[in-house]
Amino acid sequence: MEHRQLIMSPERLQVMIDLLPAVEALLPHLKTVEESWQPSDLLPDFSGEAWREDLDALRAESVDLTDEMLVVLVGNVVTEEALPSYQTALNRFGGMTDRTGTESHGWAQWSRGWTAEEKRHGDVTRAYLYLTGRVDMRSVEQTIQYLIRNGFDTRAEGDPFRGLAYVSVQEHATKTSWRQLGNVVRKTGATQLHKMCGLIAADEARHERVYRAMMKGVLDRDPGGALEALRDSLGRIVMPASRMSDGTRERIFQRFSDVGSRIGVYTLRDYADNVEGFIQELELEKIENLDGASEKRRDEICAMPARYRRQAEVLDKQRQRPIPFRWLRDRVV
Ligand SMILES: [Fe+2]
Ligand SMILES: [Fe+2]
Repeated sequence: MEHRQLIMSPERLQVMIDLLPAVEALLPHLKTVEESWQPSDLLPDFSGEAWREDLDALRAESVDLTDEMLVVLVGNVVTEEALPSYQTALNRFGGMTDRTGTESHGWAQWSRGWTAEEKRHGDVTRAYLYLTGRVDMRSVEQTIQYLIRNGFDTRAEGDPFRGLAYVSVQEHATKTSWRQLGNVVRKTGATQLHKMCGLIAADEARHERVYRAMMKGVLDRDPGGALEALRDSLGRIVMPASRMSDGTRERIFQRFSDVGSRIGVYTLRDYADNVEGFIQELELEKIENLDGASEKRRDEICAMPARYRRQAEVLDKQRQRPIPFRWLRDRVV
C-alpha cells in the first residue's frame, strides 16, 4: 500500500493564518445568493405556460451538437458533478480547514461560498444534457457515481501552498474549457448552451482571480516555499476527473480529453498558456535574493510552458484512434 505523509509545516500554517485578513478582503468576489444566476434561469420553466415551447427550443438547438461536442460536454458535466471530492480536497489543505463545518474564518467562508457557487455548474449542465435526450443519461450518472467513489488526489499532500498552486491552475483550466466549448457549440446554433458555458466560465474566472491573489500572498511571504510548491504542482498535471470511469472502460478521462483536444476545447497548448500566464501574474522573474535551490526551481517553472508546447507538437503528430463511448450508446467518436 502506498503511504504518503501529509506536509503540515508549522511555518506554512502560520503563513495561512497571516493571510486571513487578505482572504476576508477577497470574500466579496463571491456573489451574494440574490445576485447569482440559478440553473432555473437558464432552463425551461415547467411552471409556466410556455414550457412546451421552451423545451422544444432547447431540444431543437441540441440536434446539431456533434458527437464530439456531446462527449466533451458530458466529460465537463461529470467533472463538475464530482464537486463533493473537490470540497473535501479544499478542506484537507492545512490552515484552510473548516473544522466544524460552520467556522467563520475567511478560508472556511471562502470554501463554503466557493462550493455553493460551483454547485450550480453541474446542476444546470446536467439538466440541459438530460433534456436534450441526446445521451445515455444513465451511463452519464453512473460515471459521476464512479468518479466520486474513485476519488481525487491533488498530490498536494495537505500542503496549503501546493493546494493554492493547484486550484489556481485548475480554475483557469475549467474557465478556458467552458469558454471554448461555448464558442464551439455556438457555431452549431446552440445559443442556450453557449450562454450556460459563458456564465460558468465567468464564475471560474472570479474563482481563479481569488486563488491567484492568495498564491501571490504566499509568494510574498515565503518565496522559497511558494516556488517549491509551484514547481511540484505545475510540473505534473493531475486533472480533477482523472479517475473517471464509465464502468466498462478504463482511462475514460484520457479518451474524453483527447476528444476535447481534437475540437480545440482544451489542449496541452492551453495548459502551457495557463502556466505561462500564471508565471507572469506572479512576476516570478522579479523576485530577488533567492538561494541557489530556489533559483533553480524558478528556472524549472519558467521553462515549463516551452516544455509543454514541445510535448504538444509531438502529440499533434499522433493519430487518435476513435473509440466507442458508452455515453453515446457506444457510437465511435
Ligand atoms: Fe465549476
Ligand atoms: Fe471551478
